[in-house]
Amino acid sequence: MLDNLSDPVFSLVFDTVDIGLVVVDVDGCVFGWNAWMARVTRRPTQQVIGKSLYEIFPDVRNTRLPGIIEDAFQVGSSSILTHTLNTLLPLQGEGGEAILHNIVVRPVSAEHANYCLLQITDVTVAVTRERVLRERQNARYHAIVDSAPDAIITIDDNRVIQWVNGAVDHVLGYGHAELLGQPLDILLQPGNQLASALAQSSVDQKADAAISVVGRYKNGKSGNFEISLGHWRADQRNFVTTIWRDVTERAAADAALRDARDALQRSHDELESRVEERTREREIALRQLHESQKMESIGQLTGGVAHDFNNLLAVILGSLSLLKKTVPQEPRISRLLDRAIQGAERGATLTTRLLAFARRQELTVEFVALQKLIPEMLDFLRHSVGPNIEIRAEISPEVGAIEVDANQLELALINLAVNARDAMPQGGSLTIACHNETSGKSIGLSRDPFVCITVTDTGEGMSEATRARAQEPFFTTKGIGKGTGLGLSMVHGFTAQSGGTMRIRSQPGKGTSVTIWLPRAKEGSKAANVEMPFAQPKEARSLRVLLVDDDILVSMGAADMLLDLGHSVTEAQSGPHALKLLESDAPFDIVVTDYAMPGMNGFELAQRVKQQNPKLPIILATGYAELPADRSIEFGHLSKPYTSKDLAAALEKAVM
Ligand SMILES: Nc1ncnc2c1ncn2[C@@H]1O[C@H](COP(=O)(O)OP(=O)(O)OP(=O)(O)O)[C@@H](O)[C@H]1O
Ligand SMILES: [Mg+2]
Repeated sequence: MLDNLSDPVFSLVFDTVDIGLVVVDVDGCVFGWNAWMARVTRRPTQQVIGKSLYEIFPDVRNTRLPGIIEDAFQVGSSSILTHTLNTLLPLQGEGGEAILHNIVVRPVSAEHANYCLLQITDVTVAVTRERVLRERQNARYHAIVDSAPDAIITIDDNRVIQWVNGAVDHVLGYGHAELLGQPLDILLQPGNQLASALAQSSVDQKADAAISVVGRYKNGKSGNFEISLGHWRADQRNFVTTIWRDVTERAAADAALRDARDALQRSHDELESRVEERTREREIALRQLHESQKMESIGQLTGGVAHDFNNLLAVILGSLSLLKKTVPQEPRISRLLDRAIQGAERGATLTTRLLAFARRQELTVEFVALQKLIPEMLDFLRHSVGPNIEIRAEISPEVGAIEVDANQLELALINLAVNARDAMPQGGSLTIACHNETSGKSIGLSRDPFVCITVTDTGEGMSEATRARAQEPFFTTKGIGKGTGLGLSMVHGFTAQSGGTMRIRSQPGKGTSVTIWLPRAKEGSKAANVEMPFAQPKEARSLRVLLVDDDILVSMGAADMLLDLGHSVTEAQSGPHALKLLESDAPFDIVVTDYAMPGMNGFELAQRVKQQNPKLPIILATGYAELPADRSIEFGHLSKPYTSKDLAAALEKAVM
């Protein structure tokens, strides 16, 4: 085909194509050179034909082109040389600018000879466009990376910073150039997890979840960061791009939220435990209420029965005492009478305890100093409990005085001591300790303050069932004939009537501790406790007595006693009846009246009598505490059941 190169058509085509065409022979001499080549080399075809290509372009010798042309001739191979990897021919455009080009080298065979065709393509436009495009892309890429709110830092294998984005400034406080070439560790607090995370992760691994790290700002302060890692490789080197998100504020908010949640949980727990506590307290209060209601109704029942028995015993005792005086001094009859009197007296003691439990005991409230009362009782108590039991009293001087009925208090302490004795058949110790309590609220008492007297023994203790019922009247574990079950009932009634209460603590085998709460005396009470002047014995004289009682049996008994004492008696069955008798001319020296009477009670009668005749002495006989405590002092008083001796003493005191 080359033979036809001189053909005008081929020649025209050869010169018209928009690429450079050069044909060289085996010796490297130019055989063909088209117009395009003449233009870009400024060398016309005639000038170069027959010349060695390397003569025309001396620098080409040092390029790969000679070798490739050689290969084309020797092996018949085709090759492409691109401008990116090779230095090629010095071609210039019209304005003198270098023309970027690629060269395709191809062997061409003609009938008689072998040639090599160089096809030269101008790629300047394409390359320039590509460059512009790339630059535009780069600008976009930088804009994106620099506008990211997180700091992006790329490090190499040795953790030396290679590249950073603009955000390092506001995230970490460093200028762009300050960080390049620095070790990454200047941004980290010692002991952080990033080093181990970097060691563990690798290029092959997918991006890990962000790591929480304590980092360091340029100003030396620390902050919380979440760092994500991305590994990549270029030019056989490993790089890691780290993206730093500052979460210091979020961490602080999280911590505050956590604290608030913890506080909420704590207050919730506290509330729950408070509710539980209140519920428990309420249950205890309900149990106590139930207990006290039970005691109250037993008390009412007992009180009523005891009151009636008291009246009957008064009659029996009175009659028996009179009988004893009148019957002849016959030993057998005398013995029988004594036994009957003893029985009736024991009955009276029982009813007294029952009345105490029912809180209907007549209480003579007085100022009591325990520092005096208890030591004085110790001998008696020792005697009551026997030699095997050691008794100790612990009363410090600051224990306040109390306002109670001293006799009843003594009785209560005796009851407690005897119970302790019974619980310690093999001996043991008994302690009576006193202390002040400023408030009774904890045990449901409203008035303040109190003194607590605690009687503790080292005896056998009580089961829970016994403890729960121990204060009930007639509850005893001591067997028939041994215990009446009224000891603790008396203590219970006495403390309640005095404005206090009692508490029992006991466990089987671990002893018992009974605490009685009694109201402390108000300041200055001692002054009110005026000792009554001692009654001077007086000549007994015969009195004209108006005896008032609605119970005929009781009235008869009392009348008999009065007659026996040498007095004259007029009986009235009611208040109005008595008033009528007083209005009549019959003169009386004294009125003895029962308290509990239907219609007008003894106290009302006494007040009326006092209005009409202020000088006439009056004695109120009461079986239990019906009499308003503050008023009883106005009149003489006699506790039922009474003996002839009690009656005589009351009369004497009244007319004195
Ligand atoms: N200190 C104590 N140790 C162990 N148990 C006791 C003690 N005090 C009382 N108890 C128990 O409580 C019960 C009731 O006591 P309470 O004093 O009311 O009656 P009692 O002692 O049985 O009879 P009483 O006192 O009339 O002779 C007793 O029977 C006993 O079971
Ligand atoms: Mg007892």
